[in-house]
Amino acid sequence: MNSSQYSTIDDDSSLIPINLYSINAPFLIKRIYFLHNLKNFSKRGFHSHKNLHQLILCTYGSFKIKIDDSLNQKIYSMNDSSFALYLKPGLWRELFDFAPNSICLVLASDVYSEEDYIRNYHDFLNYKLL
Ligand code: TYD
Repeated sequence: MNSSQYSTIDDDSSLIPINLYSINAPFLIKRIYFLHNLKNFSKRGFHSHKNLHQLILCTYGSFKIKIDDSLNQKIYSMNDSSFALYLKPGLWRELFDFAPNSICLVLASDVYSEEDYIRNYHDFLNYKLL
């Protein structure tokens, strides 16, 4: 995904455009949301989705995301707004270690549905055995 950061000359405010047409997402993007006001001790995620596909981006600051497919775990350092992490359904995710004021942008394949969540890790492991 290509995105640029544009600053003004008189202050350090900035604008980051997200051109949806240029995102090569492996799904139709139906919802966009972002996490903000994040603290270093904030912890987000701690769930899996049954059917939802997502692209996760760090549009400001940095954070880490642990991805767990029930067999293997991998930690990604997110600090580049031109990089999007694709999460297919059935992955447990934990977001942590946020730099102050970081922004996490999420592009999702469907509207919000609590029924699509698995919020308990042991339920997630059992779900993966089905
Ligand atoms: P959740 O997806 O658990 O966020 P995180 O993984 O960052 O901790 O959602 C947190 C709360 O926000 C939960 O009560 C559901 C609500 N929510 C919506 O109402 N709509 C949405 O699109 C999302 C993503 C969450």
